[in-house]
Amino acid sequence: MPLRDRVPEPAARCAAVPNGADLPPLRAAEFEEIRTFAKQRFGLDLRHGKEDLVSARLARAVRQGRFRSYREYLDSVQTDKSGDALTALINALTTNHTSFYREPLHFEFLAGTLLPHMRPASGLRIWSAACSTGEEPYSIACSVAQAWNRQVSGLRILATDISTRVLDAARAATYSKSSLAAAPLPWVSNFFSRAGAPEGMLRVQPDIAAAVRFQRLNLVEPLPFTERFHVIFCRNVMIYFDKPTQEMLVRRLAERLEPEGHLFVGHSESLAGVNHPLTYVRPAVYRRDRTGRKGT
Ligand SMILES: C[S@@+](CC[C@H](N)C(=O)[O-])C[C@H]1O[C@@H](n2cnc3c(N)ncnc32)[C@H](O)[C@@H]1O
Repeated sequence: MPLRDRVPEPAARCAAVPNGADLPPLRAAEFEEIRTFAKQRFGLDLRHGKEDLVSARLARAVRQGRFRSYREYLDSVQTDKSGDALTALINALTTNHTSFYREPLHFEFLAGTLLPHMRPASGLRIWSAACSTGEEPYSIACSVAQAWNRQVSGLRILATDISTRVLDAARAATYSKSSLAAAPLPWVSNFFSRAGAPEGMLRVQPDIAAAVRFQRLNLVEPLPFTERFHVIFCRNVMIYFDKPTQEMLVRRLAERLEPEGHLFVGHSESLAGVNHPLTYVRPAVYRRDRTGRKGT
């Protein structure tokens, strides 16, 4: 029997639609379908028990699209050829939370330990692999600019995310002053300006912004490039993935690291229990050894 014909069985409570009518509750079969779909397409691990969360997050998309049920909404996502509905679905199911200088220990380690020994003749290549609205790659650019007396012409930062919405915001390179509250003070005066920014906002200065290139990329699909990086930031995205997906991803990232390159993951994303070829350096930092194998 097709999933849609099964006897309705609520998986979650009703979500109110704006006109006051109730949206029929997310059915158990629909939740299962979303779970499978999100797993296959994005590697998302939506465990049982998350039914209320999923229904609450998708209710907005259902209302905005004027669908009468989750069923109608799901059908439209699966038949949409533009990819926009898929992007909206992942936006609804994940969070884009980020900030400048998030997890300061990483930036201290980058600036204090790695950068003083890093000035590759071919240029420094860094990848921010789930960059959200850009605070992470621009924080990396500011760290390098600070360490290199602003000589960033040899710096190339690739910043990727699955969501085109956050990438558009990142490309605008415009942020509220309050979002820079945790950043080192010299960054604000040296690397941001009011020129060209709306009232109350600051814009990343053009030479710093020019070091960062944004691209849409789904981390659970094969990587569309063979380039290697000296440092990869892949932070606060693996928490959404199950262990096999995390393992596949860390292996792929390891292949994209230069020998002795470093991988930074979120501090809440231990790689314990994940089989990978990298060497632990310090909390949430791993290194590819010279040969790419552990312990060599
Ligand atoms: C919580 S934010 C982390 C941002 C930044 N790395 C940080 O630590 O502040 C997670 C980001 O991962 C992105 N994301 C989720 N699943 C993804 C996937 N399969 N491929 C690429 N990006 C994904 C989301 O769009 C979101 O912008």
